[in-house]
Amino acid sequence: MRTKIVAGNWKMNNDLSASINLISEIKNSSIGKNFKTKIILCPPFTSLETANALLKGTKISLGAQNMYYEENGAYTGEISAKMLKSVGCEFVIIGHSERRTIFEESDEIINLKLKAALKNNLKPIFCIGETLEEREKDKTFDVIRRQVIDGLKDLSESEIQNIIFAYEPVWAIGTGKNATPYQAQEVHKFIRDLLQKEYSTYLSDNIIIQYGGSVKPDNASELMAQPDIDGALVGGACLRSDSFIKIVESAE
Ligand code: PGA
Repeated sequence: MRTKIVAGNWKMNNDLSASINLISEIKNSSIGKNFKTKIILCPPFTSLETANALLKGTKISLGAQNMYYEENGAYTGEISAKMLKSVGCEFVIIGHSERRTIFEESDEIINLKLKAALKNNLKPIFCIGETLEEREKDKTFDVIRRQVIDGLKDLSESEIQNIIFAYEPVWAIGTGKNATPYQAQEVHKFIRDLLQKEYSTYLSDNIIIQYGGSVKPDNASELMAQPDIDGALVGGACLRSDSFIKIVESAE
């Protein structure tokens, strides 16, 4: 039985005081206590250290939204895996579609980032997903296959076991237009079958595959009830404690 994992990707939202308020509301709610579902919060870099202090003693984990693949050096504006570890991060989102499109990150760069994260014992939340144009041209499975194969290039099966996959159809992100449970399940099953073919049944049976893209309190239960959907990566709806808490509750 796979654990459900719900992660909140705050994106470029919440300054330090707003971060403190949101974390306090979440950790003082019912979900901060005895929930089976694993909860990960991914605030902006500037709130990570404070978030780590606030989350001490809770079961809520901390993640970052991005990192660079080099260890250190002349890379103005970038943050390394080691730096994220030093402020308490256990997870890092890699390959989010906003990074792929706005910041032109290729599968090759994403592969380097996955390797650097794993080398530093950070667990990646590895995002993959097709655009609307790709879906309409019936390219969904080709795109997903390429993103998985190229993203995981040269990683061993034991390294891949530490990755959380997140299927996020780009056309569903921030648009209010979620994939239907059927559409999402179909791609999740495809990813699981691909991992079985490329690696093993053990990996495919145990890997966590979250769904992301307009997950809200009113569609979360149905999505997460699908056999191959193991939780959610939530953007817009994680910025308010009440809606994020409801989504976590529906994963239980
Ligand atoms: P959304 O974002 O929930 O606002 O669609 C999800 C994501 O980008 O991870």
